[in-house]
Amino acid sequence: MRVHVAFTPAETSPVPTAIVIDALRATSTIVQAIESGYERVYCCAEVDEARALAAELPDAVTAGERNARLIPSFDFGNSPREFVEPKAAAVVLTTTNGTRAIVAAANACEVVLVGSLLNLRALAATAAGRGADVEIVCAGMDGRFTIEDAYCAGRIAQLLEGDRTEAADAAIRLARSFGSAEEAFGFGRSAANLRENGVGEDIAWCTREDAADAVPRLASMRGPAAEIVGT
Ligand code: MLT
Repeated sequence: MRVHVAFTPAETSPVPTAIVIDALRATSTIVQAIESGYERVYCCAEVDEARALAAELPDAVTAGERNARLIPSFDFGNSPREFVEPKAAAVVLTTTNGTRAIVAAANACEVVLVGSLLNLRALAATAAGRGADVEIVCAGMDGRFTIEDAYCAGRIAQLLEGDRTEAADAAIRLARSFGSAEEAFGFGRSAANLRENGVGEDIAWCTREDAADAVPRLASMRGPAAEIVGT
């Protein structure tokens, strides 16, 4: 089994198993929503797509952000702390980077899993159980590298036995260079952006390793949206 890390979404290749990470915060939010009992999360790249889909669904809330700010008329933002109790059957989510990376992976890969530190071990066990080549895709920010996604990728790669690429080894070394996840996450631009927008508490919240057992995965596409369910 080959284990590879794509540090930016542009490096994504068509692989049997993709694990998408946007640790601050989209994939942490999806993991939390499924863990809490939401049946599905529809990931949309665009705000208009999310609005149109939500209008078709009988029991869904809208959530997301643009540049860490609430989207007008949406029910929730993109804080995982807003998803500790289900308020509907489904969430229609659109975020600046994370949901776009999920939609791109859904269009290229056989199986797409949603990863974060919250579901680290459960996720690695699911990916390893498939026995197929794995690519860990970092959503990054505006197409560029982010430290928290690379750190999270390294932690996942560390748990996967197999033929690791140079990028996977580099991610593992990067993760080992930090004393803690909080140190790594707190270091980057994404964290600075969250602090500036008054949601800095989410940083520590998203570093809680193994707080969840849910391993969200792609079920199908519904129009342009990737439908994510629990395993
Ligand atoms: C994203 O998708 O860009 C992020 O999740 C941004 C955020 O933290 O809300």
